[in-house]
Amino acid sequence: MKILVTGGCGFIGSHTVVDLLNEGYEVVIVDNLYNSKIDVLDKIKKITNKDVTFYQYDLCDYEKLQEVFSKEKVDAVIHFAGLKAVGESVNKPLMYYENNLFSTINLLKAMKSYNVKKIVFSSSATVYGSPKSLPIKEDFPLSTTNPYGTTKLMIEQILTDLYKADNSFDITILRYFNPIGAHKSGLLGEDPNGIPNNLMPYIVKVATRELPILNVFGNDYETVDGTGVRDYIHVCDLSYGHVLALKNSKSGLKIYNLGTGHGTSVLELVKTFEKVNNVKVNYKIVERREGDIASCYASNDKAKEELGFSPKYNLEDMCRDSYNFVKTNQ
Ligand code: NAD
Ligand code: UD1
Repeated sequence: MKILVTGGCGFIGSHTVVDLLNEGYEVVIVDNLYNSKIDVLDKIKKITNKDVTFYQYDLCDYEKLQEVFSKEKVDAVIHFAGLKAVGESVNKPLMYYENNLFSTINLLKAMKSYNVKKIVFSSSATVYGSPKSLPIKEDFPLSTTNPYGTTKLMIEQILTDLYKADNSFDITILRYFNPIGAHKSGLLGEDPNGIPNNLMPYIVKVATRELPILNVFGNDYETVDGTGVRDYIHVCDLSYGHVLALKNSKSGLKIYNLGTGHGTSVLELVKTFEKVNNVKVNYKIVERREGDIASCYASNDKAKEELGFSPKYNLEDMCRDSYNFVKTNQ
């Protein structure tokens, strides 16, 4: 079975490509390398000893996309490609709407005209806005607070409407919680340019002394120690969720949370990171970050029951693997 992976050179996409190759799927990647590097392809080969077909194309270019579909005869698509920085999306909304929506509409148009009906889409827990209770279930109300989140919600709506119009489509929407960690080889991981927005990449840069101190955004939330609580999930557990989604696919529109179901506070994450890596992470408490919520963690019962999803890595593994990736690539 041949799978088109858009954004396959990125953080989550590259780990998923490894899983797909290990499971015997053929893989075609389309990525414009806007937020990734070409050497990821060599690293995937090193880990799996298998080749992928790669097109450095922008999904917003419909003609190029048609060329891929006409040459490759893919059976299914996993759609990771997109821009994902929340703060940037607030400052550059048109760039986010243009890239994330045009690319997806082009992809769906090409799928329809080449009769490819199976797609797995990367959505985010951000579509739950500020949840009314915890853990978050798939049928909770949806809302967003920034253009990035709105693109995810809009794409979910587009997929829903597409399925209503043609129910031979097989659509799986995966709502990720907070992916961290890295491949155990140290070859694949998350390496954001500049100053990271997300917690784990920031912690890593403080641990390696690239950044002086971690700003902890608020310690007056109603949580175990006052700091924000999130559901961190190892990227390898998350990536395997996509293989399960493909294996369990059948016509329909299905939505699953991919998280561990456990909440961890900022300070709990910092302490665990320090302990397993035997390194100091200096931090100071600062004001809350605008738009942040106190707590967010998944109910993953649906993914467990219907997909057989079963995360196997714990917080210590996530901290160890995140640090190992950066140390290996320094
Ligand atoms: P990433 O930035 O590492 O990977 C995305 C890839 O898509 C990059 O390699 C980029 O070059 C490519 N891309 C972007 N626009 C493109 C276009 N128009 N044409 C071709 N390629 C394009 O991001 P990631 O962390 O691997 O996230 C993958 C997906 O999961 C994204 O859609 C993201 O919004 C979603 N998601 C990520 C997180 C997270 O915390 N990482 C959480 C929830 C959802
Ligand atoms: C962020 C995005 C969300 C996206 C998710 C995964 C925002 C507002 N939300 O979520 O849309 O789906 O990433 O990519 O950006 N923290 C600090 N100091 C830091 C960084 C973070 O204390 O330097 C805290 C935050 O307040 C939060 C926790 O760490 O409590 C996690 O933050 P982060 O990694 O940015 O993820 P989210 O806010 O959950």
